[in-house]
Amino acid sequence: MRRVYLWAAGFAAVAAVLGGVVAAGPPQSSNAAATSTPRPVLDKYCVTCHNQRLKTAGLTLDTIDAANIPAAADTWEKVVRKLRAGSMPPPSSPRPDQATYDALISHLESSLDRAAVDHPNPGRTDAFHRLNRSEYHNAVRDLIGLDVDVTSLVPADAADEHGFDNMAGVLSVSPVLLERYGAATANQPSARGARAAASGRRDFGAPSPGLAESK
Ligand code: HEC
Repeated sequence: MRRVYLWAAGFAAVAAVLGGVVAAGPPQSSNAAATSTPRPVLDKYCVTCHNQRLKTAGLTLDTIDAANIPAAADTWEKVVRKLRAGSMPPPSSPRPDQATYDALISHLESSLDRAAVDHPNPGRTDAFHRLNRSEYHNAVRDLIGLDVDVTSLVPADAADEHGFDNMAGVLSVSPVLLERYGAATANQPSARGARAAASGRRDFGAPSPGLAESK
């Protein structure tokens, strides 16, 4: 019970501190070797319930290809979660010794990690896009403390078909637009003051608290 509890806690630190307890278990090398492929462990401890006939929890670990973890990454992610939580096999069923259990987890995790590195999922791949008008206003205000009324200086953004004006697809950049964005802030009196303050000249006396103080 104690060793089960230790594992369930799942803290490597605990295991390290109580290393003597863990190390007192059965010899680890032979067990660890047994999970270089997970198949024997699955066959022994999992397929009694997770098989084609019973399909317990919709999971069939008897037919899944245990030599190709990435091919069913989603399923193996679930398995890792259950194993990490210590909840499979259920408490009533025989359970592998700790070394075998840990080796199974690390085998699955490293296979999944390797697959993730080989096939990175970059998420949304929309092109980089410019800030829309309100975002630009907020960014300038937050970064350099200028509250510029950009509505008169840069054109409003087109909305996409759902009415949003902050979608990457509609936020393209034309050279003219870029010029107007730059001009909108470059010629503000307080922007000139901020530049002067940053370069050490203080004679503008313009309100640029953040930059002046940082000198
Ligand atoms: C005595 C039967 C039994 C054994 C043996 C057993 N399981 Fe389970 N398993 C269940 C039951 C019942 C559920 C559904 C309840 C739950 O999720 O706790 C389940 C759920 C799961 C799930 C969640 C499936 C999903 O889609 O959410 C995974 C993953 C899992 N088991 C993996 C394993 C692994 C790996 C082993 C072997 C180390 C194993 N089980 C051994 C009965 C068993």
